[in-house]
Amino acid sequence: MTTESIHETVREHYASAAIQAQHGSACCGPSENPSAELYSALERDELPDAAVLASLGCGNPIAVAELHEGERVLDLGSGGGIDVLLSARRVGPTGRAFGLDMTDEMLALARRNAAEAGATNVEFLKGHIEAVPLPAESIDVVISNCVVNLAADKPSVFREIARVLRPGGRIGISDIVAEDHLTADQRAERGSYAGCIAGALSMGEFRDGLAEVGLVDVTISPSHTVADGMVSAIIKASKPVEAQGDAPTLATSAASSAAVVSSGPLEASSALGRDVAVVSGGCCGGAGCCG
Ligand SMILES: C[S@@+](CC[C@H](N)C(=O)[O-])C[C@H]1O[C@@H](n2cnc3c(N)ncnc32)[C@H](O)[C@@H]1O
Repeated sequence: MTTESIHETVREHYASAAIQAQHGSACCGPSENPSAELYSALERDELPDAAVLASLGCGNPIAVAELHEGERVLDLGSGGGIDVLLSARRVGPTGRAFGLDMTDEMLALARRNAAEAGATNVEFLKGHIEAVPLPAESIDVVISNCVVNLAADKPSVFREIARVLRPGGRIGISDIVAEDHLTADQRAERGSYAGCIAGALSMGEFRDGLAEVGLVDVTISPSHTVADGMVSAIIKASKPVEAQGDAPTLATSAASSAAVVSSGPLEASSALGRDVAVVSGGCCGGAGCCG
């Protein structure tokens, strides 16, 4: 598939999800959106119901991003805006939360949700996460929830993350990742591209992609299993404060990066083989209602 055809397939899928959300059923139905369950009751109470119900992620990047007053946050693939709105409350009036999405219908939904929430320090931008329309070193924290797997050109996404982050900036990303031994065909057997499964990177590919653009302290922590050999995980990393010369090559980064893969459901699922229980929790990756 070409970059354009991947973008079009994914865009059509999420345009239709946004239209459904506008009619009150972002995912499986207003009362049973598994993505919304990934947020605490307190977090859900901070937002209008429509924003919570529009959630289509596979984790909760806000829970790990440790946002502070005055910070500038960028959410890659912001959808209906749930993580942008939660970020905006945490960074306060002196900070700013940007959402970037390529789907007009999602941008319209997010702007409506922001208006309903009364958020004034948010901005939703149209564009591809492979070519972020923001200046270099303008962002403190990049977050994303179940979107990197959908990108047509993942090396460009990693390059763009490293470009827009200020030195010392950090990332907190939720995404679906595969065990390293699963081939691309095996990932595609487990779910569709637009359903966040077929395009997922392996843990090693994700870790190397971040290290290759110069990010350090990479950790990948599985949270729940979404398919045999595939999990939702939280990925954290940071951009060094001091420039460290040229970004390491893939060959050197694999050997020298400080990447850590935490123990968790991934190991458990490997041990259990094909009988692994699939934990629901995340529209894209868990319940399969978006696939
Ligand atoms: C699975 S939804 C997640 C939405 C949101 N992060 C959430 O947690 O509810 C994926 C979103 O990413 C957007 N998207 C997918 N690929 C993209 C790309 N290459 N560039 C920009 N947006 C993209 C889609 O339009 C959709 O809104």
